[in-house]
Amino acid sequence: MKIRFSELPSKQLCLFLLASSPELRSTYHTGLDVASNKFNNRGYFNVNNYIAIDIEDPESEIPTGPKPSVDKFIHADLLEAALPSADLVMCVETVGITALFSHSETLRALESLINTTNTGGTLVVNVGPLASVEDRRIFATSINSNFTHVRHIRYGRWSKSIHPLLSLILGTALLLFPSLRVPNKDQEVWHLFFAKGKLAKPQESLNLLGRSSNPGSQLRKN
Ligand SMILES: C[S@@+](CC[C@H](N)C(=O)[O-])C[C@H]1O[C@@H](n2cnc3c(N)ncnc32)[C@H](O)[C@@H]1O
Repeated sequence: MKIRFSELPSKQLCLFLLASSPELRSTYHTGLDVASNKFNNRGYFNVNNYIAIDIEDPESEIPTGPKPSVDKFIHADLLEAALPSADLVMCVETVGITALFSHSETLRALESLINTTNTGGTLVVNVGPLASVEDRRIFATSINSNFTHVRHIRYGRWSKSIHPLLSLILGTALLLFPSLRVPNKDQEVWHLFFAKGKLAKPQESLNLLGRSSNPGSQLRKN
């Protein structure tokens, strides 16, 4: 699996965690890379069918190799399009993170990502500090209520751009010493989820408790 590098130590940690994830070592039939950008996460997909979606057209030609090649690219907004269902769905460095995304729609995006994951399938997603603390809390609750096995990693310390070599060193320190990962303020905490075993229906007792900042979302208390 290809390791990606970042000038942000916290993102470097996330990239190390993706590269070493046991959930991504399994082979899946269909993989959906949501907010695929330059297809940099393609190497994490061990799939027969790789589908990518982004609100922007790719900046360069759609790559054909190395594997997996891009079987289909969909130019669409993840909040508006009917996403194709997949056994592995990944959406990283986007929700609560990228300036292009509308962060008040955080829970609607999550709803769409969960719905598009096949029963029994895996969702890999992170959410950053541009989403409200409350939405990040509901995000975690919702993932836990929709999947049988969830690895939830909190992080976010050292999320400013620095020299690539120093970033690699600090990213490695974050990987080796989990106690360093979480920043002091709640507002600055990032969350990465490896969620396996999507349930056909969430268990009633685990249904969502919180209230969304987006009145259109169903991920809220009734
Ligand atoms: C920072 S890039 C992350 C790309 C890639 N996932 C990665 O990990 O490198 C964020 C991407 O999200 C896309 N994006 C933002 N809002 C989106 C939306 N509503 N629907 C689909 N893609 C979106 C942007 O076009 C951009 O390509």
